[in-house]
Amino acid sequence: MAANSYVLALDQGTTSSRAIIFDRDSVPVRGSITQLEHSQIFPHPGWVEHDPLEIWRNVRSAMTEALMRSDLTPSEISAIGITNQRETTVVWDRATGEPVYNAIVWQDVRTGEICDRLSETITGGEERVREITGLPISTYFSGPKVRWILDNVPGARERAEAGELAFGTIDSWLVFRLTSTSSTSGGPAGSGDPDHICDVTNASRTMLMDLETLDWSEEMCSALGIPASMLPRIVPSSGELATVAPGRIFAGTPVCGILGDQQAAMFGQTCFDAGEAKNTYGTGNFLLLSTGTERQRSSHGLITTVAYQRDGENPRYALEGSIAVTGSLVQWLRDNLGIISTSAEVEKLAESVEDNGDCYLVPAFSGLLAPRWRPDARGALVGLTRFNSAGHIARAALEATAYQTREVVEAMVADAGHAASEMRVDGGMVFNELLMQFQADICDLEVVRPQITETTALGAAYAAGLAAGVWDSTDELRGLWREDKRWTPQMDDENRTRLWDRWNKAVERTFDWA
Ligand code: G3P
Repeated sequence: MAANSYVLALDQGTTSSRAIIFDRDSVPVRGSITQLEHSQIFPHPGWVEHDPLEIWRNVRSAMTEALMRSDLTPSEISAIGITNQRETTVVWDRATGEPVYNAIVWQDVRTGEICDRLSETITGGEERVREITGLPISTYFSGPKVRWILDNVPGARERAEAGELAFGTIDSWLVFRLTSTSSTSGGPAGSGDPDHICDVTNASRTMLMDLETLDWSEEMCSALGIPASMLPRIVPSSGELATVAPGRIFAGTPVCGILGDQQAAMFGQTCFDAGEAKNTYGTGNFLLLSTGTERQRSSHGLITTVAYQRDGENPRYALEGSIAVTGSLVQWLRDNLGIISTSAEVEKLAESVEDNGDCYLVPAFSGLLAPRWRPDARGALVGLTRFNSAGHIARAALEATAYQTREVVEAMVADAGHAASEMRVDGGMVFNELLMQFQADICDLEVVRPQITETTALGAAYAAGLAAGVWDSTDELRGLWREDKRWTPQMDDENRTRLWDRWNKAVERTFDWA
């Protein structure tokens, strides 16, 4: 076991950056949880951007603050684990470390035309892309976003072809910065080359990686016109991956874990083996079912993705259903409709009515991702009568999260041939009792919440701590997982079928709109 048994996890998410220090019992060190929000930039409808420098500043402040609040010293931290919003794309100048454009966020749909062109021009069409990358062609992934930057930022293509620009997902961007020598601006690379790496789970979301070789696909890079010189080196999720540069706080501390945030949550939930599944309720919902060492192809609208890879071991894979809008629908009720003043109030409002009053809210705000992949869909509130109240809308919003999850569960059963025995849940909405019970009811599946719901940060800490010797094995980590609450299905079949049919009718009404 390592002498220093603490691990720092950095969780860079869509809306905020967090830093948490875990001890070897996997408990957050008292007071160490630090969180800083960053700006959401919406230059045009459907466009979503972040400022990469603001993200870096927040991550740096969060890690400093977490350390100060924990009363530990940097030398007591064995390793750093990084987890991040996936697919979000940064392109920067290698020499100065300056981004050439804002980060284009995973939710951004500006690359619709690039995706259409790719389906028409690549030999074998979408099927070929799925075969290589495990992904459908969609604005969701990074490759088309890189292409957009090369086509639209003046001089970017020439500079990229001259080898001056680097592309990375947010993990790459943070590692590049952490391994750059500090300066007063906290920015550009100094002496020594900063690391330009990307972990294999993040790489599997770019639409540029070959899922079989775990290396960049020449065919995909050339189909999207992306110079190979821009790409980071793909590394495992757990191993000695990088070291923080001299002059920075945590100088010399190794980065031993990197995972995309959904894969990190799965690791934190200790869903290591085939058949184990977790569902994270965040901005969107991300349900992942482990398929172990088998790279299973989906014929029902799911993504084949890398779950994790420990250095020197074979990768583990998962089937994933990504749902774009769930928690953010509750924020929309708060910010755009004003029917609640805090997100937590949604439960009370939903409880003020007996049922959904035959009202269905389909949050296809920028199309629908898994399992339907309908970029042409737009949101709809279906079934309204004069009888309906704000309570019905709140209830319909919560139910929408559960129905969308069932769509993914059904696709998983169809692909895998069997259902998971239970679904482990985490994320902000898992304290909403009404939603969790309805989730169990509509899926006819046991839903289980662990005691530690910081599973995303915990997963990154586990990946780092395993490589640094804080924990010895995945079996040891399994032993640290503890159940907090379990919801068992209570709804009768007739009711379940009736609601499910109505939901499906409502979804069909959102198609062919955009
Ligand atoms: O694929 C997008 C996902 O990684 C975003 O997760 O929790 O930052 O909304 P979150």
